[in-house]
Amino acid sequence: MAEPVIVTLDGPAGVGKSTLAKMLAGRLGLAYLDTGAMFRAVGFLLGPGSWDWPEERLAARLEGFRFGLEGAGARTRLTVDGRALGPEIRTEDVGMWASNVAKLPVVRAFLKKAQQDLARGTSLVAEGRDMGSVVFPAARHKFFLDADPAERARRRFLQLQELGRPADLAELTAQIEARDRQDRTRAEAPLKPAPDALIVDTTDLDLEEVFEHILEAIITKAD
Ligand code: DC
Repeated sequence: MAEPVIVTLDGPAGVGKSTLAKMLAGRLGLAYLDTGAMFRAVGFLLGPGSWDWPEERLAARLEGFRFGLEGAGARTRLTVDGRALGPEIRTEDVGMWASNVAKLPVVRAFLKKAQQDLARGTSLVAEGRDMGSVVFPAARHKFFLDADPAERARRRFLQLQELGRPADLAELTAQIEARDRQDRTRAEAPLKPAPDALIVDTTDLDLEEVFEHILEAIITKAD
């Protein structure tokens, strides 16, 4: 059987990774692994303050979580203990809780193993902060997306408006900048491009342009 193909898509909050990863997974017929959702699920299920717990208490709770990945493309389903993750993990507050637990080595080690286990024998597009640098260093196709914080806040704002959820642009900008700072400066697996990742600055590109650019890079390299 052919080796599984892994495409990694890393970058800061609000850059459009999830949308692009889903589009790529759909086009290439691969599963889609949203690792931000895994950190969000841990932050949400353990709750505020859990990032200050003693390591043994955290480790004991983490051991109870079972992640699953079924299907492919837009129909990929990521589950925890058999349940799909819903809109409750998608708020900016839960994003910050995720970023808080993501600083802890015990959480990162647990999720790194869970992510590698989910990918065993499966071709996928893996999206997050450290997919190309730490979790799948041998991946064949690595991308790092970036954009100005103001542009990322604007995209998130429009996305929330479309969902009919109230949002304040200034507040969103501040939240995105705070989360970025924390994700980029943490000691463990900080947000930074893998040395062999293709860096794509999407500030002045629309979604279709980024999608075509990445798709072409994948197809060219696969030939
Ligand atoms: O991509 P997202 O906004 O759903 O991610 C939420 C947080 O989870 C993010 O601020 C940092 C953390 N995270 C991480 O540390 N490593 C990953 N691979 C994915 C997310």
